[in-house]
Parts: sequence; structure tokens; C-alpha cells
Amino acid sequence: MSPDSVSPERAEELSGILEELEAMNEEAMANNIWIRTKWNSASQKPWHTHDSEPPTIAEHGLPLENAKAVPYIWKWDYFSDYLYKLAELCPLELTERQSILLTNPAFSTGYKVTNTIRIAISIYKKGDDAVPHMHTPNASRTILSDGGGYTYVEGERFPANRGDLILTPNGTWHAHGNDDDTPVIWADTLDWPLMDFLGLIWVRNDHENAKMNDAPEQGFSTKFFGNGGMLPRFKGPSRGIGKKQTEMFYYAGADIATALKDLRDMDGDPHEGIIMEFVNPANGRPLFPSLAYKAQLLRPGEETLEYRHTANSVYSVLEGQGVTTVDGTELDWSQSDFFVAPSHLWRKHKNTGKEDAILYSYSDSPIIDCIGHYNAQGKTKAGSVIELED
Ligand SMILES: [Fe+2]
Repeated sequence: MSPDSVSPERAEELSGILEELEAMNEEAMANNIWIRTKWNSASQKPWHTHDSEPPTIAEHGLPLENAKAVPYIWKWDYFSDYLYKLAELCPLELTERQSILLTNPAFSTGYKVTNTIRIAISIYKKGDDAVPHMHTPNASRTILSDGGGYTYVEGERFPANRGDLILTPNGTWHAHGNDDDTPVIWADTLDWPLMDFLGLIWVRNDHENAKMNDAPEQGFSTKFFGNGGMLPRFKGPSRGIGKKQTEMFYYAGADIATALKDLRDMDGDPHEGIIMEFVNPANGRPLFPSLAYKAQLLRPGEETLEYRHTANSVYSVLEGQGVTTVDGTELDWSQSDFFVAPSHLWRKHKNTGKEDAILYSYSDSPIIDCIGHYNAQGKTKAGSVIELED
């Protein structure tokens, strides 16, 4: 029963009682006690009723420990100014790692775009040479600039060209730098907030112990793991000390675009267009146990049907322009913008440009699936809701 389902007189009495309870609660909270009443228990709406709205908390409900992310877009034209200022103002000895962090306005604290994902945008100018370190959070680089710069992962060197995806999984030594005249800019995607919540953050900076010398040559990842449908059945070098994450550390942006464009004449998925997932070649699972990576192509004029799932998705715009509507909020995107479609909210994409659009996305769906909470739904053309596998 809620206070609204009784007569106006009784509602007034109840309202007075609730006020008293709230006053008492305020006093109790100062002593680390929360008084639970019949009306202030959590009232989350269930996912499985098909037409349910996103979860909400009833009036006088127990507060959530963590705010939920809201739909938001970070425009390249805006945030890139800060990067160039960083590069211009900082002397070389201070520019080993320079980045800005995208923060979701839903959170009063924490440098995060969702409760699980951090996105930093980094810039490295000529001469920058960040010494190796390793840490528990899984991380990746999505390269935004056209060229220049490099990353080493467990000693393997990777170039950094626009659209490249470079993985630095949990427990791998990695180093970054740039010896090119133009600055290199990339987006770092990390599961840092999730690891932080779980009490699992550690970082090693004893780079003298980094294994960087007897490492495989450039191109090893692609040679060893990149033959689609074929896996070496002999042991390769041991790389990193983490568990259950991919050892394929590099995808070239040009190859990603080609893979998508080769499929562009097919129907694709009605909710996602031409979409492909980056997978751990050893087992077909997501790249990290905590994060799934996908790339999708939307053809000019293509408009997807509405979709939602019980996971957060952050998008990076590699090519083209369009609009993604998330829970009624229109996010107009173009090259190198980032936007977030939070868990549970309906969303649909539209390519409003004359060229193909390519989006990369980073989602916390694997961890949600692992704990048995992953659900996905889509709408048909007629507007009815259907359950989806993914
Ligand atoms: Fe790092």
C-alpha cells in the first residue's frame, strides 16, 4: 500500500506521520541508523513486465548507494580544446601522461561515465615517453588522431593510427609515447570504477621489472591470434599475469572498417545495423570479463529499431554523423564524439549523414551476464516489445 491509495484525510494523517518518521530518521541517520517503514522500502519496477519503465525509487524510498548514469554526449569540438591546451602549456617533463576525464553529470563524485567505466582522453606530443606500468583495471586505447604515437604491451609494439584498438588487459605491462611531429590523441577506456568498487585496484610502477626486452616483434598479436577461425595449438609466450582476458592486443582501424564494410550489403541487425563484436580468440568470449567491445556500421539514412539492455554502453564515433535517441534525449553526434546510453533505457540510432557511420561501443554487459542479470529487449516495427538473446 502506498500513502496515495487511501482517502485524502487519511493521506494527510499519513503524510504527517511520514514527516515525523523522516524527522526521526534524520536524527537516527546521524547515529548511522536507517529506520525502515512500510512506505520507505525500495520500490524498483521489474524488468520482466515488458512495458516497465526504467527502475525508479518510490517517494520516501530508501536512497540508492550509487546514482545511475544519465544519457550524455561529450563533443570533440569542446573537449579537444582542453587537450591542445594541455599539450601547449605543459613542458615535456610534465607531459608523460596527460589526459582529461569525461564525467557523467549524474555523479557528484567520481571520474566516471558510468558506475563501471572510465573514459579518459589522452594526448602525447613529440618526445613524450611514458615509462611502463601495470595495473588491475582492464584498459584499451581507441586511437582518435590520424597517426603518430605508439603503445607497448608486454613488450610488443603497436602503432597508433585512427580507429586502432589497443588492449592492455589486467596485469600487463604497458608503455606509451610519441616520436612523431603531430600529437597523438586516444581514448582510454577502463573498468576502473568497477575495480575500485570491488576493492581491487593496484598499480605497479616498478618498471625496472617490466618484461619489455624478450618480447615478440611488432605484428605478433595479429600473426598469432588474428587468423579468423584458426587458433595455434601450441603454447605462445606468456603475456601478463591477469586471468580470463584476451591476449589479442591489437586491431587495426583499417581492418575494422573493412570487416564492417564487407558486410554492409547484408540486412544486419534491425536494432544495431551491421554490428560485430571483438572477441577473445581463445574462447569467443568478450575481450575482458568486465567489458565487451563492439563496432557497428550504420548506412546513410539507416534508422534502427528501439533497443535496450540491462547494461551500460559508451559509444565512440569513428566515422560519420547521426543522432542516437536515449530515453527521449537526442544526442547529435559526429566524428570523435563520445556518448553514453545507460542501462535499462530505450535507444535507437540514425545515420543522418551521406556517408557510412562507424561507432565503437564499450559495455559492462559481461559482468552483468556473469552475475545472472543480463536481459535485452527490442521493439518491432509495430512497436511491440520482444525479448532478445543479446
Ligand atoms: Fe595504464
